[in-house]
Amino acid sequence: MTRVVISVGGSVLVPTLDTHRLVEWADALKILAKAGHQIFAVVGGGGEARRYISVCRGIGLDEASSDEFGILITRINAKLLIAALGEYAYPCVAESYLDAKKFALTRRIVIMGGVTPGQTTDAVAACLAEETCSSMMINMTAIDGIYSADPRKDPEAVKYGTLGTQGLIDLIVREKLCAGSNMVFDLVAAKIIERSGIPLIVIDGRDPSLVCRVLLGGEFAGTIVGDKIVTLPI
Ligand code: UTP
Repeated sequence: MTRVVISVGGSVLVPTLDTHRLVEWADALKILAKAGHQIFAVVGGGGEARRYISVCRGIGLDEASSDEFGILITRINAKLLIAALGEYAYPCVAESYLDAKKFALTRRIVIMGGVTPGQTTDAVAACLAEETCSSMMINMTAIDGIYSADPRKDPEAVKYGTLGTQGLIDLIVREKLCAGSNMVFDLVAAKIIERSGIPLIVIDGRDPSLVCRVLLGGEFAGTIVGDKIVTLPI
């Protein structure tokens, strides 16, 4: 059995309420659970979180209070994924790392959202991977790996096949952290990955079946982040 934390970007799970991929994601996670893996999925806020945060700013709310709205939306998305998973998932959203560890004793898939302002669900996923001694963290968002620059803005951007943790941190510090930030990975998360030594894999979350290729064998095109020669512990 492999214990794995998957950070599922809200931007790929529920980009909008009309264009969600809840069923595709539930199907992929069920395949992994049936194969005997203990799965923790940390769900992001997606487009709805950004829309609420934009309203918060419009009415003059500070960034941390706007983050609290983002957290509420991540938990609503988490609840939707639990509903799509049915009996495969523990029926409550984990609101703390302790909750997540307790829920995992049932061997069901554990679903979590955000926990605290000033970070994103990538940081939650990295902490959870550390606390649960997971073999790896998989980050699945609306991009197919880590690039030297934002490929939507810079045609010269190149994708990394592998990257050291310091290289990842250097890329992130160029960006700015604010509520609803569009950074590919957050700095807190990168620092936790660095100190824990847990390998991080970044793959395209618009195709949920790719997570099965990582964990069940097969080729995948993404970025592997780590400081050792990374062989996947599966
Ligand atoms: P995320 O940024 O993690 O979700 O949370 P996302 O945007 O859906 O993720 P990607 O881009 O697809 O990967 C949404 C917002 O919720 C707040 C932040 O404002 C964040 O931008 N949040 C989330 C927190 O403040 N703390 C948390 O622990 C998690």
